[in-house]
Amino acid sequence: MGKRGKAAARERREERRREVTLLRAVPYEPHQRWWDGLAPARAVAVVTGASRGIGYEISRQLAHHGLHVVLASRDAARGRDAAESILREQEAASAEWRQLDVADAASVEAFAAWTARTHGGIHVLINNAGVNFNRGADNSVEFAEQVIETNYFGTKRMIEAMLPLLKPSPYGGRIVNVSSRLGRANGRRNKIGDAILREQLLTDDCLSEELIDGMVTKFLEQVKQNSWSSIEWPQMYTDYSISKLAVNVYTRLMAKRLADRSEGQKIYINCFCPGWVKTAMTDWEGNISAEEGADTGVWLALLPQAQATIGKFYAERREISF
Ligand SMILES: NC(=O)c1ccc[n+]([C@@H]2O[C@H](COP(=O)([O-])OP(=O)(O)OC[C@H]3O[C@@H](n4cnc5c(N)ncnc54)[C@H](OP(=O)(O)O)[C@@H]3O)[C@@H](O)[C@H]2O)c1
Repeated sequence: MGKRGKAAARERREERRREVTLLRAVPYEPHQRWWDGLAPARAVAVVTGASRGIGYEISRQLAHHGLHVVLASRDAARGRDAAESILREQEAASAEWRQLDVADAASVEAFAAWTARTHGGIHVLINNAGVNFNRGADNSVEFAEQVIETNYFGTKRMIEAMLPLLKPSPYGGRIVNVSSRLGRANGRRNKIGDAILREQLLTDDCLSEELIDGMVTKFLEQVKQNSWSSIEWPQMYTDYSISKLAVNVYTRLMAKRLADRSEGQKIYINCFCPGWVKTAMTDWEGNISAEEGADTGVWLALLPQAQATIGKFYAERREISF
């Protein structure tokens, strides 16, 4: 893309950003607030990695709309502070903290058991917890295992554990996976080099857990043997991009499995890219605030059922390609 093309793209992004800012200020009409239909109970939303950044903002905004929010995080002090800060800021808010390490199967199991005991079930699951150790122009795979374990297997583990806890409701359960445009199979600057694998990942009939797990396992084996190449794999933040690609493809696989549920049992699963956000993950170098980055996730969780979709990828409240 030339200089002029880049400037035009930047202007389009800015324009959309302004539009979304305006949309955010529009209050939900009473008939759109499906979660009020559960009164006197509150809809329960679980947000992973909620003690800071985008996860905290998603929690804060969901609490503001009237849901009960379980802020799940690894660190007790930070998690409690985050929940207390929401309660301090909003008199009517309902929020609490619970320990959760998505990379630890026992922790996920304990979290699910606690949720079942305490709330009977949930209405919204936001899989936000994630790590990326690369910054700027770096592309190291030193922490590839942790990145894939947290971002992909952590998301998958949470969905497996929490799916039975999504309460049947006439409004449909919601699962939102926080992903990234870097996880596109066919991104302009960041694509899977292996054309056969790329085709399989983009073809619904080819999707399976074996395909996705096989891809990440192959990459991790190559990393161990120091034989991986950025010709075969995404060129930018390779480990992180593969982890988010796996999240995206898993979102579509789950959508396929959940698509035929009957009324009252429906679960809407989608993923989104928050944009380049000023958080610890980017050393606060992004171009939007965590509040703006959280927006599409909150919007997906709260969409009225008539507008809810399944197995789609979003950014700035618009569908984008995988
Ligand atoms: N910032 C961006 O520009 C950007 C762009 C695209 C996508 N994203 C995605 O947005 C999500 C949130 O990122 P962020 O920008 O808000 O970054 P962040 O400020 O670094 O927050 C990441 C959160 O994930 C938590 N986490 C990490 N590993 C965990 C684990 N094993 N179990 C539970 N929680 C864990 C962290 O908890 P601790 O406090 O315990 O470390 C932290 O609360 C991530 O999935 C990220 O990939 C971000």
